Amino acid sequence: MTSIAQFNAQANKVTEREHAEQLGLLQALSDAVECGADAPEVGRQLDALIAYSEAHFVSEELLMRMKSYDDYEEHQEDHAQMLIQMRAMAADHAAGRSALIHGKLQGMFDFICRHIATRDKRLADYVRTNQ
Ligand SMILES: [Fe+2]
Repeated sequence: MTSIAQFNAQANKVTEREHAEQLGLLQALSDAVECGADAPEVGRQLDALIAYSEAHFVSEELLMRMKSYDDYEEHQEDHAQMLIQMRAMAADHAAGRSALIHGKLQGMFDFICRHIATRDKRLADYVRTNQ
């Protein structure tokens, strides 16, 4: 039977893997935009990034609730803001304003990296010490 400590260690590993996957999808979108990929391809990359981010954020939010995490609201608000920005990029793209995506990618990358380095790190530390 899996102990709580094993569960928490596994949860941390899964979360780190999910962050790497999310950043990989953002990089793939950036590469597609930089290389001048056609609109359907950029749209697919955007959809993949948004779908994965939605699933990843839900899993983190579930973990926070399970742990009665004390920074839930602020952390969840970061997730909501990231999704708003990603969906705004998708809306620009769908409206034929794909050129705007290029200027927003660095900000998105900075936001996600800052979130992982601060709020996600705090959550991981909390989970490790509250088993
Ligand atoms: Fe997070």
